[in-house]
Amino acid sequence: MQWFEEWFDTPYYHILYSNRDYQEAENFLNLLTGFLKLEKNSTIIDLACGKGRHSVYLNKLGYNVLGLDLSEQSISYDKQFENDALKFRVHDMRNRIETEPVDAVFNLFTSFGYFETEEEDKSVFRSVSDALKNEGYFVLDFLNAEYVKSVITPKATVEKENITFNIKKHIEGEYILKEIDFEDQGKQFHFFERVKLTSPERILKFADEFGFELIQRWGDYQLNDFDEKSSQRCINLFRKR
Ligand SMILES: C[S@@+](CC[C@H](N)C(=O)[O-])C[C@H]1O[C@@H](n2cnc3c(N)ncnc32)[C@H](O)[C@@H]1O
Repeated sequence: MQWFEEWFDTPYYHILYSNRDYQEAENFLNLLTGFLKLEKNSTIIDLACGKGRHSVYLNKLGYNVLGLDLSEQSISYDKQFENDALKFRVHDMRNRIETEPVDAVFNLFTSFGYFETEEEDKSVFRSVSDALKNEGYFVLDFLNAEYVKSVITPKATVEKENITFNIKKHIEGEYILKEIDFEDQGKQFHFFERVKLTSPERILKFADEFGFELIQRWGDYQLNDFDEKSSQRCINLFRKR
């Protein structure tokens, strides 16, 4: 089993990240949807939707939303939010999405770069392109590799729900590795996250190969311009040609 199939499906992943910023996510979506000016009945796929924070809010804004994630635990949690215009499904982003062509696909909060091979990375672009209408939008909200390399904190301790998570980060080849060690009920656990530090140029190369044009690149959730040295994020807005 790959690390991302296991770790994201454990309760510990959700405990460690229980302070996810819903307000920041909503402000970002207000700005993003304001920029895109999608019609209210448009359909958006939230690819790797996790616990549904973006899907639920996009639906509140009036869009039809399909949230997809590999984690069965997350999707069964998300099902409580379903309505006629909001659906959730277990889906591996490397595979073709069974859908009518949609207006936009959002992949948010570093939900890319988990795979070993370039073929797998490309399969995400292929499946997004196949799911979109012509001129549909693809938003890939990824980390800024240069920035991440420059600010890496090798060690940290996080206390959550009486669990002490010991976190170590280091760069290994083209990946950033985050090792997570903790004890719960007398048992030791070890997990890790491994994200390929895909450069903006490489992202652009994949996008170009699958028929996308880069419309805009922002450097943070306030939609400030991207700067490779100082931006925390690399938020790419592509349009299918
Ligand atoms: C960093 S979380 C982001 C979740 C969500 N977008 C958010 O901002 O709250 C990454 C998500 O990607 C999902 N994921 C990992 N590998 C996946 C895959 N191959 N296909 C679909 N989802 C995947 C995980 O289960 C997890 O929910």
